Amino acid sequence: MRISVIGCGYLGATHAASMAELGHEVVGVEVDAAKRARLAAGEVPFFEPGLPELLAKHVASGRLRFTDSYAEAAAFADLHFVCVGTPQLPSSLGADTTYVEAAVRSLAAHLTPGGSGSGGPTYVVGKSTVPVGTAAAMAGLLETLSPEGTDVELVWNPEFLREGFAVQDTLEPDRVVLGVASERAEAAMREFYAPMAQRGTPFVVTDYATAELVKVSANAFLATKISFVNAVGEVCDAVGADVVALADAIGHDARIGRKFLNAGVGFGGGCLPKDIRAFQHRAGELGVEEAMSFLSQVDTINQRQRQRVTQIAKELLGSEVSGRRIAVWGAAFKPDSDDVRDSPALDVAGRLHLRGADVRVYDPEATETARVRFPTLTYAASAIEAAEGADLVLHLTEWKEFRTVDIDAVTRVVAGRRLLDGRNLLDLDAWRAAGWQARGLGRR
Ligand code: UDX
Repeated sequence: MRISVIGCGYLGATHAASMAELGHEVVGVEVDAAKRARLAAGEVPFFEPGLPELLAKHVASGRLRFTDSYAEAAAFADLHFVCVGTPQLPSSLGADTTYVEAAVRSLAAHLTPGGSGSGGPTYVVGKSTVPVGTAAAMAGLLETLSPEGTDVELVWNPEFLREGFAVQDTLEPDRVVLGVASERAEAAMREFYAPMAQRGTPFVVTDYATAELVKVSANAFLATKISFVNAVGEVCDAVGADVVALADAIGHDARIGRKFLNAGVGFGGGCLPKDIRAFQHRAGELGVEEAMSFLSQVDTINQRQRQRVTQIAKELLGSEVSGRRIAVWGAAFKPDSDDVRDSPALDVAGRLHLRGADVRVYDPEATETARVRFPTLTYAASAIEAAEGADLVLHLTEWKEFRTVDIDAVTRVVAGRRLLDGRNLLDLDAWRAAGWQARGLGRR
């Protein structure tokens, strides 16, 4: 089928390339000229394993191209996916839906009664994460703004991709959620996603509001799981218990599960922090503020982990951090990503820098994105270089290379053998055997 993908950031670029891989013909609409030029040349403007190969493959095959023209998209396809961002508003905890609205408005102005010429109806499919109620508002907008006689319908089809696994999550999702207003819309979407249905992927077909809520609820649940285990980790620290053994033990209960129970410096990124705040905000607007008020605790616990790391760093150093050299391993909010939005690692690095520490940050992929956000920090070219002369090493993003680092090589270059594993993934016994004072969060 012919589709357009409006907004070619993380979500859109991945969706566009993945849908081309499924055999569809795709035009990506991207208004940022620099980004569009890179995508058109087959380049991905951010780090995402597997995506550059897929994008280049389908730009070359001719199944994927990019434009800034909504008119071109409307003339090409009858299925339009809206993949623009919904960042946190500067003035509140709510999400900014103006990009979604702008995309719908721009597209509606170019739709025509005959569609792209196929004679069938046009579907506008929202994939962005939005406050509940947005889809209904967008459906109303489409009806009002589309030219008289245009047969257009809205679908809500949230995306659950994780950075670092974006291609896999898009091509092999755990489920496909469709918020629809008619049986024909459901049929059209099932036809579009037929390869996934054939693989046995579960489809959940529901109304707009439920589809919107599924997405924010999933992210709120994941965030709650992380903050739960981090809160328990604080208790573990108070009594000398071990949160990793505890998480393993409760995780064996199939009702709980071990995933997303890794205690540490907490969650960050462009989704979980923003989504729990927006969910709370929307609940307040809907008059059910109390129902979601626990999410403010989830947020607070998460922020507190960053303070805990700073506090333990201070304890390990004996008192003041000012004038001490600290190696920070990791800048991205998670491994296999160069995304530093709301990154716990960079936040901690910045806090220590502001307290006068000489902070040296190393990240395998996120140095350039980190430098843009925190130009005053010092960046090293390797884990060892960051550790040279350091009084303390902080492990804050769980890249694999930090787990396999040569402990002896690090030991030779540091000034003081002090380690804080802010992700609870390093072998503390091995570090201690090399003479290090090594701590985790909530660990013995
Ligand atoms: C998340 C959701 O997982 C995804 O479904 C949604 O579409 C977008 O938001 P993402 O932001 O890519 O994806 O990251 P995710 O893998 O969920 O991790 C979020 C944060 O939680 C990271 O900072 C990670 O380090 C942290 N985390 C994760 C923990 O601190 N502990 C854990 O056990 C798991």
